Amino acid sequence: MKREDIEKVISELEALKVKTAAEVEEARVRFLGKKGEITALFEEFRTVDKDAKREFGAPLNELKKAAMAKIEELRESIVEIAAETVREDLSMPGYPLSLGSRHPVSIVRQEIVDIFRKFGYDVAEGPEIEDDYHVFEALNFPPNHPARDMQDTFFVSAGHPNPLLLRTHTSSVQVRTMETQKVPIRVVCPGRVFRNEAISARAHCIFHQVEGLYIDEGVTFADLKQAILLFAREMFGPETQIRMRPSFFPFTEPSAEVDVSCNICHGKGCNICKGTGWLEIMGCGMVDPNVLEASGIDSTKYSGFAFGMGIERIAMLKWQVNDLRHYFENDLRFLREFSTAVEV
Ligand code: PHE
Repeated sequence: MKREDIEKVISELEALKVKTAAEVEEARVRFLGKKGEITALFEEFRTVDKDAKREFGAPLNELKKAAMAKIEELRESIVEIAAETVREDLSMPGYPLSLGSRHPVSIVRQEIVDIFRKFGYDVAEGPEIEDDYHVFEALNFPPNHPARDMQDTFFVSAGHPNPLLLRTHTSSVQVRTMETQKVPIRVVCPGRVFRNEAISARAHCIFHQVEGLYIDEGVTFADLKQAILLFAREMFGPETQIRMRPSFFPFTEPSAEVDVSCNICHGKGCNICKGTGWLEIMGCGMVDPNVLEASGIDSTKYSGFAFGMGIERIAMLKWQVNDLRHYFENDLRFLREFSTAVEV
């Protein structure tokens, strides 16, 4: 047995660095365990002669005490480090919360609805799975009208006299409103609609509409024009002009297609308006007397107008997004473009 053996263990103990409780236990085993370095020195001590016993007895005992104290100290330091980590955590800056943003379709729907609310319209909603009666029959669609065809309509239960289907427009909500409310009626009906169309930049099998209905005594086409003009100016700016082109819908007579002056080139002609200076935004017309009668409204006393527009179409014009598919792909890079479009 030599002095250096003891000194070597002392310096090893001093150099000891641990980070975890498991490492403290490892160090204890290394020095004080059954096969530990200090235990080994004690074993050896038993075999040495008297002189050596006198020389090494006290320092060996000191060493063992020091080792035990060191291990204890290390064990306590681990608890302290843990406590310190908690304190540091508390002072750390918080994780940034990523705020969601509203979908562009929701933003525009809200904008359209808010404009009509200002004019005194209520909001009405109805089921997306509808029956043939509310989507077609009550709206004066002749029995063999092509829109009832499987080409356009997703049927849920075909072959039934009044089959269930996915509504192809929210005009069905207007029918339900006429059935349940008393005249005068002034409603807008926002909602999701479905058509069996090939998906492309300009068409999708799911899209959104806001349709409107106004019925009272003496409502005329002039009222319709004025309502649409006011809407267009609120939506696209005070300089906006509108024009109406004759059209056809089974549920309105006369019917028209509405264009607004192109808000990009201000009528000069650009690639958004394809050089015409005009952009198509909606269909409209005077409610056909057959439709009023089908819902029990006296068409000799009351008249009304209706209109309907695609929300994605308006959103495309507002933000010059020229591919409809962007609205349905949930690509965050696209959706985040709109995160400042409304204040949260
Ligand atoms: N329902 C029609 C469509 O979906 C739009 C429309 C509504 C047209 C009201 C005229 C009057 O295309």
